[in-house]
Amino acid sequence: MDIIGFIALLLVVAEGVIAEVQVEPQNATVLQHSEARFNCSVSNPGWAVMIWSLNRVFALTILETSGVVNSTGHFYARNYSTAGKSRWELIIENVLREDSGQVVCQILGGEPVTAELSVQESGAVEIVGSNRTVTEGERVVFQCLAAGWFPAPRFSWALNGAPVADDLFNSSSVETGAVVNSSSSLSITASSSMRVECLATVPALGTPRSSCVYLTAVKAVEPQTRDQTVLIAVTVSFSAAALLVLFIIAVVFCCKRRKRAKSGYEKEARAQSQRVKNTHTGEGQGHDNLGYVTEGPKVRDSNSDFTDSRYWHNSNSFQMPDVVRTPHEASHAASTVHVSDSGVRKHRHVTIV
Ligand SMILES: *[C@@H]1O[C@H](CO)[C@@H](O)[C@H](O)[C@H]1NC(C)=O
Ligand SMILES: *[C@@H]1O[C@H](CO)[C@@H](O)[C@H](O)[C@H]1NC(C)=O
Ligand SMILES: *[C@@H]1O[C@H](CO)[C@@H](O)[C@H](O)[C@H]1NC(C)=O
Ligand SMILES: *[C@@H]1O[C@H](CO)[C@@H](O)[C@H](O)[C@H]1NC(C)=O
Ligand SMILES: *[C@@H]1O[C@H](CO)[C@@H](O)[C@H](O)[C@H]1NC(C)=O
Repeated sequence: MDIIGFIALLLVVAEGVIAEVQVEPQNATVLQHSEARFNCSVSNPGWAVMIWSLNRVFALTILETSGVVNSTGHFYARNYSTAGKSRWELIIENVLREDSGQVVCQILGGEPVTAELSVQESGAVEIVGSNRTVTEGERVVFQCLAAGWFPAPRFSWALNGAPVADDLFNSSSVETGAVVNSSSSLSITASSSMRVECLATVPALGTPRSSCVYLTAVKAVEPQTRDQTVLIAVTVSFSAAALLVLFIIAVVFCCKRRKRAKSGYEKEARAQSQRVKNTHTGEGQGHDNLGYVTEGPKVRDSNSDFTDSRYWHNSNSFQMPDVVRTPHEASHAASTVHVSDSGVRKHRHVTIV
């Protein structure tokens, strides 16, 4: 190595040290359609031209003295220079997925400095199905779908705002074209009513996108039904028993009444037959038997053959069937009165029962 070559190398190293160039941030992750920004700082104030490029495509040029001299597309620049330090910011508006790649800032005569740009995409997130009502203690599986994301979103779940342990859910993703469709399944035991929230996010997204449904846990229906069944059974049994008792009482009353009526009738019939018998033997009160007349002086009175019998007629001999029939009596009484010439009457009573 000759001396000139060594000096040249020293000069290059020295120039590199002097013209210190820095790009910040080194990694920028942004959402599609938002803007991306990078700062290029030069410590050596002796620079003349700054060139920005994106994925090896020229973006814009800045002159130290006059600023931005030409720009293309959606690239802009802002001057943040301070005394002793030059700083220019590159703004890429409405970044697209295809803008992802390398952003390079180069000072004319210096080395290019590279940074990374990642453009991501956020899509929709939704828990399949709406609010749910289940029995307490039941196992419930919620499925959350995230469509149109890039890259695959990271899922998380929250119950009443509290994060769910990772082992309670799993997630899977399928790339469809330029985007990814993902799904996550959460399996929990419904211990109480709660708000179930599914969250999906990508690094570029500040606040995760979420979907939420309400889980209503109701007490087990079975014991309640059993209680009601028991209640109904008891009610029905009591009602049936009451009805039966009423029926029995009614039957007993009915029987008693009929028996009393029957016994009354029997008593009456017996009394009647007794009366007749008494008449027959001449011991009882004769007024009951209308056809009965005792023999005696009274009868001798021939003027009046009509005695105490309503059916008495002055005739020599006649037979008078004296059938007395009342609804309660079934006895036939026939009285035969014989009147002899001597005026002595003979009576014969026949009672047929
Ligand atoms: C920049 O981001 C990419 C992807 O996100 C990563 O692989 C890389 O390591 C990051 N670089 C730095 C310097 O952080
Ligand atoms: C660039 O630097 C300026 C001034 O320090 C700061 O306000 C701005 O946020 C920076 N931009 C980026 C992308 O870091
Ligand atoms: C950039 O800002 C610095 C500090 O305010 C200023 O001195 C310089 O002239 C500006 N450059 C241009 C091109 O406007
Ligand atoms: C779910 O329940 C919440 C609160 O009870 C209610 O505000 C919301 O409208 C319900 N959603 C559906 C789809 O029924
Ligand atoms: C994910 O979870 C669901 C429900 O919890 C289960 O049926 C399925 O087998 C799980 N899949 C994997 C890959 O673990």
